[in-house]
Amino acid sequence: MNDKKILFSGVQPTGDLHLGNYLGAFQNWVNLQDKYNCIYSVVDLHAITINYDPEKYQERVLKTVIDLLAMGIDPQKSILFVQSQVPEHTELCWLLNTITPVSELQRMTQFKDKSKQNIANVNMGLFDYPVLQVADILLYKSEFVPVGADQVQHLELTNDILKKFNNKFGEYFSKVETIISKGERIMSLADPSKKMSKSLGENHCLSLRDDPDTIRKKIMSAITDQGPTENGEMSAGVDNLFKMMELLGDEEIVKKFHQDYHQQTLKYSELKIALVEVLINFLKPIQEKILELENNSDEVVKILEQGTEKARAIARVNIREIKEKMGLV
Ligand code: TRP
Repeated sequence: MNDKKILFSGVQPTGDLHLGNYLGAFQNWVNLQDKYNCIYSVVDLHAITINYDPEKYQERVLKTVIDLLAMGIDPQKSILFVQSQVPEHTELCWLLNTITPVSELQRMTQFKDKSKQNIANVNMGLFDYPVLQVADILLYKSEFVPVGADQVQHLELTNDILKKFNNKFGEYFSKVETIISKGERIMSLADPSKKMSKSLGENHCLSLRDDPDTIRKKIMSAITDQGPTENGEMSAGVDNLFKMMELLGDEEIVKKFHQDYHQQTLKYSELKIALVEVLINFLKPIQEKILELENNSDEVVKILEQGTEKARAIARVNIREIKEKMGLV
């Protein structure tokens, strides 16, 4: 083991990841691998707290794993595993349940939102979701957690619960630091007032798996024509195209388009055509890697087995210590 600090993060297996996910979060995950001992988990136990199709679930989980590997999560550097394969997560969740005030969980905005979205299925798991997340983090005594801004409340809860634990059972956990992904907010192509999201519909997102024709179709029909805003700023759609271009394209080309924009000679179709090329080239190696992994599922299974083993090796030691502190050993 080296002396790097432990960093944990989780992603729900929500199906194909898209460009917004990559630029907003996973690019960051990839870069963090050199600075920390990263533990990344596909949190399948979290995602079953809302309606899902059990028949298709394994496929979704595997797709997510493959997407992560293709984006650059490196099993030589980081631990990558599927949450349900490490039973200590649910065990620690139970232990932490016993020191978590119900009133804290009732305050969680994500719980309230999800409850409203599906009144017919407000289950205990959904209510307890944040505690399972706390368990994910604390099981490895993680000190850093990169997440999106919507997860800040869950991270505050993590620090509250660990403090409670330390006070009650003796110092054990260190404070957890939230790394808010500075990642870019890529907006929907069809409605640039909203963040790019799978749930808006296919034409709103660029999937990592979209083929060149689909990319071309989606970008060429992306919304631009709202004109500059009142204070002369770029309209949201154009701004979004520029942002993708800046993040992935060649600096010189971007500069030229900016100049055109300011001289009011920019043709959106030219910007779009250039962006299509950039996106196709950017996604090509990722898609090749996806294909390679999809044709070699033994390899993926092996990576996951090794990840599980490494995660469990840490989890077993820590859960034992935690139980000792709590008087259970
Ligand atoms: N709730 C997180 C999300 O929806 C996913 C998650 C589960 C997670 N466990 C975690 C994130 C632990 C960070 C750390 O994005």
